[in-house]
Amino acid sequence: MIDIRLSDNLELMAEMQDNTVDLIYCDILYGTGRKFKDYQDLKPKREIIEEHYIPRIKEMHRILKDTGSIYLQMDNKINHWVRCIMDDVFGYGNFLNEIYWDKNVVKNNTKNKFTNSTDTIILYTKTKNYTFNPQYENIISKSTLNEFKYNDNQELVRMARTRDYKTKGKKEIKLKDYKGRLCNNIFNIAKRLKQVYATQKPKALIERIIKASSNEGDLVADFYAGSFTTAEVCKDLNRNFIGCDISEKAVQIGHARVRGF
Ligand SMILES: C[S@@+](CC[C@H](N)C(=O)[O-])C[C@H]1O[C@@H](n2cnc3c(N)ncnc32)[C@H](O)[C@@H]1O
Repeated sequence: MIDIRLSDNLELMAEMQDNTVDLIYCDILYGTGRKFKDYQDLKPKREIIEEHYIPRIKEMHRILKDTGSIYLQMDNKINHWVRCIMDDVFGYGNFLNEIYWDKNVVKNNTKNKFTNSTDTIILYTKTKNYTFNPQYENIISKSTLNEFKYNDNQELVRMARTRDYKTKGKKEIKLKDYKGRLCNNIFNIAKRLKQVYATQKPKALIERIIKASSNEGDLVADFYAGSFTTAEVCKDLNRNFIGCDISEKAVQIGHARVRGF
């Protein structure tokens, strides 16, 4: 089920039952004060940010399942204020990660400070009993491939370091079983994409989050959906989706994307 709504997110969430969503991913308003081509951002004032986010984050907590996770994406303008709200609503003990999405910005003309190349994604869970599927990247790099050698059975294997004393800290990994490098909290995913909507995010970024924190058939929600990238990824990955945007253009794009334009 892919459920796309034209609605203010507070109104949509008010209709939803407690403990029903497995994963919330929201690329929220970043508090830049800017007027983007497709929407107006909030001003970077703490009272404005708190007035907007406190009631919404409380609703997100109510509708999330006990096994659920929530990812909120922004940049460094308001992430410190949003983290304080998340600590109050979800609990400091349920903070799991601060993820940096490195957009690999190629243009770098900034001379008076370091160029900002990352977005921040904060991850909280509702309880300690949450879903998490480890993700792997660079499925196989050239340098790793060079480390594989034939063993006595003529299988391509690589020696990996382990902490297991029984194997004397070394273990053979067969090429056919090698999954790649475990992802850490720095997501190196290129931003380059043909945008149909302002601030549209790459599918690969949202794919990693959805695969890590949900399973097939789960319900994923995005309440700041923009061009509904999350809905398209849910369709690809056999997840159910519910989400909204207050912009008519966004919702039209969303319907077109899930139909596969
Ligand atoms: C950063 S953009 C999301 C971009 C999206 N991740 C994508 O890939 O296209 C934030 C979106 O939130 C929407 N929005 C802002 N306030 C909202 C509200 N109260 N309810 C629902 N959507 C809202 C804006 O219209 C905008 O499309």
